Amino acid sequence: MFDLIIIGGGPAGYVAAERAGHKGLSVVLFEKKTLGGVCLNEGCIPTKTMLYSAKMYDNALHGDKYGVYSDNIRFDYAKIVARKNKVVRKLVAGVDAKMKLHQVTVVKGEAMIKGRSSGGIEVTCAGESYLGQNLLICTGSEAFVPPIPGLFEAGGIVLTNREILELKEQPTSLVIIGGGVIGMEFASLYNSIGTKVTVIEMLPEILGNNDFEISAMLRDIYSKKGIEFQLNAKVIKIDGNKVVFEKDGNTEIVEGENILVSVGRRAVTTGFGLENLNVELFKGGIKTDEKMCTNMPNVFAAGDVTGFSLLAHTASREAEVVVNNLTGGNDVMHYNAIPGVIYTNPEVAGVGETEASASAKGIDFRVAKLPMAYAGRFVAENEGGSGICKVLIGAKHGEVIGVHMLGNPASEMIYGACIAIEQEMTLTEMQKVVFPHPTVSEILKETLFSF
Ligand code: NAI
Repeated sequence: MFDLIIIGGGPAGYVAAERAGHKGLSVVLFEKKTLGGVCLNEGCIPTKTMLYSAKMYDNALHGDKYGVYSDNIRFDYAKIVARKNKVVRKLVAGVDAKMKLHQVTVVKGEAMIKGRSSGGIEVTCAGESYLGQNLLICTGSEAFVPPIPGLFEAGGIVLTNREILELKEQPTSLVIIGGGVIGMEFASLYNSIGTKVTVIEMLPEILGNNDFEISAMLRDIYSKKGIEFQLNAKVIKIDGNKVVFEKDGNTEIVEGENILVSVGRRAVTTGFGLENLNVELFKGGIKTDEKMCTNMPNVFAAGDVTGFSLLAHTASREAEVVVNNLTGGNDVMHYNAIPGVIYTNPEVAGVGETEASASAKGIDFRVAKLPMAYAGRFVAENEGGSGICKVLIGAKHGEVIGVHMLGNPASEMIYGACIAIEQEMTLTEMQKVVFPHPTVSEILKETLFSF
């Protein structure tokens, strides 16, 4: 009898296993593919590795702005992909090592929930039976492929985030259906290395729930870099390598050597015997409370399978909540300070309420914003670059409720704002924090003082 059975070895499952093992629980973790899940194998890490190569190339191409000249600048796409694979292998090995360190039993194979038996929960895998006191479901999500006529007939021309990472050669042109986070990160990658990119988005703006002003600024930056955006555009069919869409009452066609479908992801709730436990679903994901408990005793869920946040860092924190409660703690999940980062160049990062979300909730707030150029380090390192930092303060108590940034390295700066929101810090308290000088992060302090 294990203390904890975990199904799925992504950022929810492997973090839960690591923390639980570290705290002395006996843990068995089932993974049917590769430890690390989508994030490590076909999401966060491989994309960021390839985006870094694209950024290096871009920097080399535009080095003259900084007085640095290079000749014959070129890249080797196959080498970029090979390095991506090497980075992934190294990090997967790291997860494997952590499992060994914390004495987690890792079973490579497809787990199937059988139900309750002998005072525990029974899971089978490859003919073996495993019993656990508790079960944590971390089966993640998969790309949603909409039923667009002609999509399946187009075969290998159409890709999701998984297949595009395996391309052997750079496509000369790429049509991206869906201008969300995945769409924009791949748009950035391929635009940087010279692919002709078209983004088709059905809404009036890219990046849905993001700060609207920042989304528009990012779109403007990438329009200038040569990406074609088709907004308010409804894809009606795919005909080989042609995407047919309707816009302003007209039918238009755009061609691409490849077509990327990035219109969202769906929780994986079938294929592993979930029905044998009568676990309740909500909006396509497993329903949980703030302790990540499902409606069934001793059954928990964390990560994308809840269909809620779909972010690796949310998944890991949810997993920690489960383990903390199983080991005598009293922990609950908060979602008000979950950062969101879009790894374009420049990067976008935000946490907490946007102006739109705060208004929709009827929150009374004040907002201040400054150009990134108010931070000396940003000017030093971003010749001709633009960006913005925006802070939202609750009007009643003066607490920080939202921070949104466009400009490098927003991904590395946003956590300061996460702490402020998580700890309910006020404007006055934040103003007393000493920021290192000169850093781009000082833009946050400057913005705080502009209220
Ligand atoms: P998404 O929900 O971010 O964006 C999908 C976009 O497709 C939306 O803008 C939507 O309006 C549009 N769309 C939907 N149907 C369409 C259609 N038929 N034609 C044209 N446009 C259509 O989903 P995405 O980009 O696939 O990402 C999935 C999840 O993965 C997200 O929840 C995201 O948070 C997560 N993710 C996070 C990353 C990060 O944190 N950096 C990176 C990649 C993914």
